[in-house]
Amino acid sequence: MTTRPADLSHFLLGALAELAHRAPAGSPELAVSRTLVSRIKTVGQPGQGAPEPLPEPLPVVDRWLGPASELARTGPAAAVGIALAPLLPCLAFRRRKGADPANAAFYDGHANAMILGPGGIEERGDLWIGLTLMAPGTLYVDHDHPPEEVYLALTPGEWWNARMDWTDPGPEGLIYNPPGIRHAMRAGATPFLALWFLPI
Ligand SMILES: [Fe+2]
Repeated sequence: MTTRPADLSHFLLGALAELAHRAPAGSPELAVSRTLVSRIKTVGQPGQGAPEPLPEPLPVVDRWLGPASELARTGPAAAVGIALAPLLPCLAFRRRKGADPANAAFYDGHANAMILGPGGIEERGDLWIGLTLMAPGTLYVDHDHPPEEVYLALTPGEWWNARMDWTDPGPEGLIYNPPGIRHAMRAGATPFLALWFLPI
């Protein structure tokens, strides 16, 4: 049987406990956290990890991953930020597929990495857990996807969806996006780091 590396297990348990702790009783966020807790009992296949060198230079990773991780390690979800830190060098950061180079602020201001899921450090098809990094002031483009999604902010940021005005989840909150809804997010004055959790 495949076993999960200890640092990945530690991160997952901490992150899903934080979701369960923050999710209101009876909320879809709580249902997502329970689904994921149940699914991660099965371990996926080891992923490829970060290609060396990365296929394309990502200035945002060079410039902002360190400061964002530092902020996450002292923020309201500090335990999750601390558990995430040893995984960061193993992640394959990429631009969003189809990101438009003409939108330079977004193109060079964001990067995504899968932790569990396709291209992640654990390959599996039944869930995606990953993170988004953005430079201060970056607006992530509107997007949608069939699975529902919960975001856990590790640093300050704001979220929007087609049924919700721009919202700061605050130090105790979560953001929930129903299946298929248009949504976006933006960084404030500090680097942005947030985790996303999607049962597939
Ligand atoms: Fe999303």
